[in-house]
Amino acid sequence: MTHTFTIAIDGPAGAGKGTLARRLADHYRLNLLDTGLTYRAVAYALIQHALPLDNVSAAETAARQVDLAKLDRAVLSTHAVGEAASKVAVYPTVRRILVEKQRDFAKTPPGAVLDGRDIGTVVCPDADIKLYVTASAEVRAQRRLSEIESIGGTADFTEILADIVRRDERDMSRADSPLKPAADAHLLDTSEMAIEAAFLAAMAIIDDVLAKRDNA
Ligand code: DC
Repeated sequence: MTHTFTIAIDGPAGAGKGTLARRLADHYRLNLLDTGLTYRAVAYALIQHALPLDNVSAAETAARQVDLAKLDRAVLSTHAVGEAASKVAVYPTVRRILVEKQRDFAKTPPGAVLDGRDIGTVVCPDADIKLYVTASAEVRAQRRLSEIESIGGTADFTEILADIVRRDERDMSRADSPLKPAADAHLLDTSEMAIEAAFLAAMAIIDDVLAKRDNA
């Protein structure tokens, strides 16, 4: 049997899990999948066809058509698509279709880093490493505001914060696969931690697991 190595990273929007996932995939030479993009691709397809986000059968069709090799971050990364993705992500049938694709991806050698909301709990419950990356809503809102301002935009902190709190609430309270840490996840709170420190902390956890495995 070919052994694959899986790192599952979950957490709310804006906690820094995307950057961390990329750094870890580079460092450990693993494939990388931002599973949020798969939900975004479904939402984007509905928006493009001017279909309502609660059209479940259209969302299922769009989910079947999602090609993991063709996820276009530039098109899918807008705030509006993220909001819409959080809405289509409540449908269990849509989730089942996407989760199957995500599991196939994780099984491809040499393994992968997957980030999302339900990786450690549902998609890869047997992952070798599970990280739950979080930060306070205020810190995440401030980071988002700085990001917008760094590209010359303007935004209102209070509105961004309200948006983040609403998205957290939707992702954490849905019946199917809500956002929550797996029982065996390592928690990384990045509220007062730069991404480099979070990366070093994650590496220490992973290297420890790898060393124990080598000595077993
Ligand atoms: O991480 P993101 O902002 O790209 O995710 C967009 C939405 O997709 C998020 O609000 C909820 C949904 N999502 C999910 O339900 N499960 C995942 N594994 C990843 C994202």
